[in-house]
Amino acid sequence: MPAKNQKLITLEIKSLQAKSLGPQALTAKELNELAPRVKKMVQTIERERQLGRHRYRDLPYDKLMIRQVRELAKFYRPKVNNLVVLGIGGSALGNIALQQALNHPYYNLLDQQDRSGPRLFVMDNVDPTLFAGLLDLIGDDLPRTLFNVISKSGETAETASQYLIVRDLLIRKLGSKKAAGQILATTDAHSGTLRTIAQQEGYNTLPVPDGVGGRFSVLSAVGLFSAALCGIDIEDLMHGAAAMDQQVKQTALLHNPAALFAAVNYLYYQRGRVMSVMMPYSNALYSLADWFRQLWAESLGKRYDAAGTQELFVGPTPIKALGSTDQHSQVQLYREGPQDKLITLLEVDKFDRDIKIAKQLPKVKALAYLGGATLGQLLQAEKQGTELALLASARPCLTIRFPRLTPYTIGQFIYLMEAATTIAGSLFNVNPYDQPGVELGKKITYHLMGKKGYEKMPRD
Ligand code: PA5
Repeated sequence: MPAKNQKLITLEIKSLQAKSLGPQALTAKELNELAPRVKKMVQTIERERQLGRHRYRDLPYDKLMIRQVRELAKFYRPKVNNLVVLGIGGSALGNIALQQALNHPYYNLLDQQDRSGPRLFVMDNVDPTLFAGLLDLIGDDLPRTLFNVISKSGETAETASQYLIVRDLLIRKLGSKKAAGQILATTDAHSGTLRTIAQQEGYNTLPVPDGVGGRFSVLSAVGLFSAALCGIDIEDLMHGAAAMDQQVKQTALLHNPAALFAAVNYLYYQRGRVMSVMMPYSNALYSLADWFRQLWAESLGKRYDAAGTQELFVGPTPIKALGSTDQHSQVQLYREGPQDKLITLLEVDKFDRDIKIAKQLPKVKALAYLGGATLGQLLQAEKQGTELALLASARPCLTIRFPRLTPYTIGQFIYLMEAATTIAGSLFNVNPYDQPGVELGKKITYHLMGKKGYEKMPRD
């Protein structure tokens, strides 16, 4: 059940109607005209859920999976000092985002007794220097290192190559029997290359649920295991997601934050605002902006319509920025560059920790205003300052407000953005769950690496 006294995150679009926006403002007429279409889409999605589509929407209610993840985390906690996730794209970004959002910002550098679990490393690239560096760092701690190989297909070249290196290392250093105990495979529940290997080698496994694609899988065992092992309350996370499910089922546009976020993005896209910036004023939320970047880009950037017949070449370009850091980098462009961006600011009402700025140097008038305030106040003022400055130069922006950063609010945000992506898919008339555009690059890589069946240079 929802955690007591915990509030919902809110989507605020009032700035989009600011007078200073002039013709760039969003009109009530536009929203009203779109509302009946969106209502039908939400109803269709709910109907399709009953027929087994949009399976990610049911993850918060999968008690069996949550229990399985918690039990496995409990089993490994006393055994490991390091958890290494081997995965890429949707098999990695959610792990990184949950960890950054909900654990200490320098979690891996804390002493063991101050951490809520093992150190976490998510290897989402095959940069050899990075991987060799990780192996250096693990060194003699290999017997207390768990490798969670995450791949739905089990054949992704990056993840598979990392797995092969690790398997060899473990067998050489620890022997085959012990090596198998250091690997946990998260993969398709029934079939696929990694499932077969796991069965043959005797690995513990977790399932990637049927019908849940990589970028929609953070609230499955894919993202939950590392979170649970590192001490994050995954039940609260799922309660937050379930609470948001109630919101995003609403058929009235203004009462459904997912529909509203999708609609606003869609309406501005039609007006030429084809870039969608997500700018959290919180370092903890920065990796969630990165996670969203994949979700939005890979789901909505499509050549063909949903039926697969008509060419559209459509899709908003998601961009991540960080407040206040990028005020000293990107905001110049956002205020004075092309009128092609819609900016979503993420704001936190109350930080778990805040630091008072010391009153110092009484004779230095230029800095006197800072003394006595807190860093949290300064960051909030920076957010308001940027928002008002953007509006003053007729740049539309909206805010997603977090009362606090907790598993409950982060679960809501993840679910909100996923549901918004599905609705945006309907508005843009694309299939949000496929990614045909990434296939050719993979095939050419297979050809270059000598994979059987790819002897000829692939063209499509
Ligand atoms: O969202 C997606 O589908 C992709 O980003 C995949 O997660 C990514 O390609 C990794 O695939 P797999 O889990 O099959 O290794």
